[in-house]
Amino acid sequence: MKFFIDTANLDEIKEAKEFGVLDGVTTNPSLMAKSGVKGKDNIFKHYKEICDIVQADVSAEVIATDFDGIVREGEELAAIDEHIVVKVPMIRDGVKAIKYFTDNGIRTNCTLVFSAGQAILAAKAGAAYVSPFIGRLDDISFEGMDLIAQIVDIYQTFDFTTEVLAASIRSPLHIVQAAETGADVATCPLNAILGLLKHPLTDIGLEKFLNDAKKLD
Ligand code: G3P
Repeated sequence: MKFFIDTANLDEIKEAKEFGVLDGVTTNPSLMAKSGVKGKDNIFKHYKEICDIVQADVSAEVIATDFDGIVREGEELAAIDEHIVVKVPMIRDGVKAIKYFTDNGIRTNCTLVFSAGQAILAAKAGAAYVSPFIGRLDDISFEGMDLIAQIVDIYQTFDFTTEVLAASIRSPLHIVQAAETGADVATCPLNAILGLLKHPLTDIGLEKFLNDAKKLD
């Protein structure tokens, strides 16, 4: 399973990259706003910086919601760097734009997916990634991970090449469950990735090894 980091914060992206397990980055307008970047030129420069750091897929989301606007914005975003994947919302004009991008060699990530039906449409349109939002389903007492399992199953049945990107991940447990369920990618906040490290028996065991090592001098 690939690990993407779900942030537009350059320090976090660099930290995850240096940690050595980073396969890509996802952003969205909320994460861009949180990073404090403003204005089209600065936003585009920011995407370029992210691409230069990770040298791997970076999802950049369109703001337009009409077909012509999505296509115009997506083409501009894709021109920033070869690693840009255009993130398009699961709406009628979005699906149509994903098909257009697919036919024109631009890779897409279909976002805001909350049902298997939506995931089928994304795959039919040729999205490179589909992003079901686990945490936001859990928030309204639906089991987000069940949706991942359902999409993985359907995609396997029909050999769809769209990768299942488990998004809105909130914890290390979500990452483990996404892996168990067969998601191709988990996009996670940095603290969820680092949370995978933690186990008290590791800390206790290391302390004992280091104490015993002193007897070896
Ligand atoms: O990848 C989508 C993600 O950023 C949404 O996460 O925590 O805002 O639901 P969250």
